[in-house]
Amino acid sequence: MKITIIVGTRPEIIKMAPVIRELEKRPANYFILHTGQHYSYNLDRVFFEQLKLPPPKYNLEAGSGSPGEQTAKILVAIEKVLQQESPDVILVEGDTNSVLASALAAVKLHIKVGHVEAGLRSYDRQMPEEINRILTDHCSDFLFAPTRQAKANLRGEGIPEEKIFITGNTIVDAVQQSLAIARGSASTINTLGLKTGEYFLVTVHRQENVDNRARFASILKGLDRLAASFEMPVIYPVHPHSRKMMAKFDLHCQRLRLVEPVDFLGFLQLESNARLILTDSGGVQEEACILGVPCVTLRDNTERPETIEVGANVLAGVSPDKILECAKVMLDREKGWPNPFGDGKAGGRIVDILGGKR
Ligand code: UD1
Ligand code: UDP
Repeated sequence: MKITIIVGTRPEIIKMAPVIRELEKRPANYFILHTGQHYSYNLDRVFFEQLKLPPPKYNLEAGSGSPGEQTAKILVAIEKVLQQESPDVILVEGDTNSVLASALAAVKLHIKVGHVEAGLRSYDRQMPEEINRILTDHCSDFLFAPTRQAKANLRGEGIPEEKIFITGNTIVDAVQQSLAIARGSASTINTLGLKTGEYFLVTVHRQENVDNRARFASILKGLDRLAASFEMPVIYPVHPHSRKMMAKFDLHCQRLRLVEPVDFLGFLQLESNARLILTDSGGVQEEACILGVPCVTLRDNTERPETIEVGANVLAGVSPDKILECAKVMLDREKGWPNPFGDGKAGGRIVDILGGKR
């Protein structure tokens, strides 16, 4: 069994790392292909270095572009590699343009597709990620659903039972594998001059928020009011796309501390010691829930409803009043909720199912 592991962006590298570690351990016949969707050092290489992942055999250097252009560039480039390498299966993770393009290229060459984190649904087709998830799931042969809910979503769309495997989410593996190191060695909190439990952590990068001036301005206003009313530092590691849109829309936020994106160990340390996390990221909602830190999601919906059901997360949307109200609710929330995303052994299960040897 020859496996092609495909990654393209920051969260894919982080969530695929536990699968790559399993493949290295066995060892299996596999190689890594990077689409190059993310290319800035702090969205890409830093994770390979810090997580000690083998370098990709191929980097397609697709880079940024309009949705069609980016997806098409990856599709064309990846087809050539797949024809040359003839893997039995490709493995993609999540919901980015890299994932959809890779799945399409493979399925047209009759190469099997494994989708890690299959079955998530926000039921909001305005999100590029929702389209990517649906289409990828429907051309996959192995659907690795992180939870029972994700499997139910797939069954509801007519995907046959025998293609779906509940494995847990590999983010639990990733957090477990890195948390102790992050707590012991990362110096991000000190470097930023923060005190444990005495700051709020923010990430905002989702296209439907930052590409819309009114929504982005509303979020920043809410966060600014939050910083003022709690007299707490609010730390925002800014994704380059958000930075670009802030400049384009001439948006400013005096009370927020904007910093560059942080490496994974540093970010885990920031998350696990935060008093509250506010985010529109998928992975960050999960990590907050796993780490036992309350979360306010700056969106109108989520494809991670499990975080809300266990009491770890609330949806605030983007209105400043609602952001403030939700922050108060979550600051008073009793902690100790269960982790709905699995036991940290998802990577091993995925490789077992694909037929890798232990
Ligand atoms: C992409 C994914 C999103 C995921 C996010 C993870 C899609 C449709 N979106 O969003 O689901 O949550 O990655 O972070 O696939 N840029 C850089 N350096 C980089 C990459 C991007 O500066 O290394 C800037 C460029 O200005 C680029 C913009 O960010 O135009 C957007 O990049 P893109 O990869 O299209 O989408 P993300 O917003 O990163
Ligand atoms: N992350 C990081 N540094 C940062 C911000 C996020 O390492 O400055 C990690 C975070 O721990 C999580 C992942 O990036 O594992 C989430 O990626 P992102 O928010 O870009 O994408 P999404 O999960 O929304 O697709």
